[in-house]
Amino acid sequence: MKTQFRGSYANISLSRTPSNKLIIKKIFGRIIKIKNKKDALLLIQLHRGFQEKAKKLRIPVVSSQISFINDDYNKSTAYVEKQLFVHNNLTTVLLSEKNPEQVSKLVNEYLKMFQKTWESGFAISLDPYIGNFGMYNKKVVYFDFFPPRQLLPNGSFFDWPEPPKESRAFILARHFSPEQSLIIYAQLLRVLSKNKILKTTYIKDLIRKFLGNQAFSYIDFSERDYIKILKNVQLYDAYLLRIIAGELCYRNLLTHDEVKYIFRITHIPATNALPKKEDLKKAGTILLERLD
Ligand SMILES: Nc1ncnc2c1ncn2[C@@H]1O[C@H](COP(=O)(O)OP(=O)(O)OP(=O)(O)O)[C@@H](O)[C@H]1O
Ligand SMILES: [Mg+2]
Repeated sequence: MKTQFRGSYANISLSRTPSNKLIIKKIFGRIIKIKNKKDALLLIQLHRGFQEKAKKLRIPVVSSQISFINDDYNKSTAYVEKQLFVHNNLTTVLLSEKNPEQVSKLVNEYLKMFQKTWESGFAISLDPYIGNFGMYNKKVVYFDFFPPRQLLPNGSFFDWPEPPKESRAFILARHFSPEQSLIIYAQLLRVLSKNKILKTTYIKDLIRKFLGNQAFSYIDFSERDYIKILKNVQLYDAYLLRIIAGELCYRNLLTHDEVKYIFRITHIPATNALPKKEDLKKAGTILLERLD
């Protein structure tokens, strides 16, 4: 049996081994080209390094094997990662769980992982999108190791592809600074605003508990802040718009489908380019109208 997924960076396929185990295969270097063999070998080294650092930080991750593909036929430079298939994606689990204590326990485990990366000075950086996490042996595990965002020996932070100059500072702050709390809160709201099992104040307090006051200060907005942001949307406001959408859904001023629509038009692509200004403005207008 062969099922195909499409990630932002990898061609993904699911297959069953002779011993009937489900394995996921991710091929990197085809959706976004890897320039040459040297770059591919560097990415493989950083990809393996990411997993070792995650294990050292005791962050629960799935095991995976990585190998280079010498693909003369396609004259391209690509490599493959094989991972155990994690049956229960955290998005699906959170959308079906009705017990507040259980939802809270899962969000605690998720935030605990970010606490460890933050306390390590971002030795590695996890991608907060809830779809990158799953349940394995009743525990939350992480399985998206690409791009292998991490601190390099020379003190600089690694992201791939290299962010364009004009958005470099924004892209790096989003993955390697307390501003990551904006992405974490937005991704939690994206899922939890559907059933509203946990209140937004409770979620924000959890973020303060695990990630600290500065993280909390980035995500705590008043109605007045909303209007100021929505009346003058800037290029870097994608995550502010996403958080406002999630919180307005909690107040039944937006449906969950509309939240998903706002997330779609404020998406930052895998190329690290910024969303289009007109899309951000459109999102701002929709949200402002709901506040009237
Ligand atoms: N080991 C795994 N077990 C179960 N599902 C997986 C696994 N790895 C990936 N997936 C599924 O495939 C999707 C894409 O995989 P991955 O996150 O590695 O790629 P990506 O390029 O980051 O894509 P995305 O932006 O969708 O997260 C995940 O969101 C998840 O739904
Ligand atoms: Mg992913």
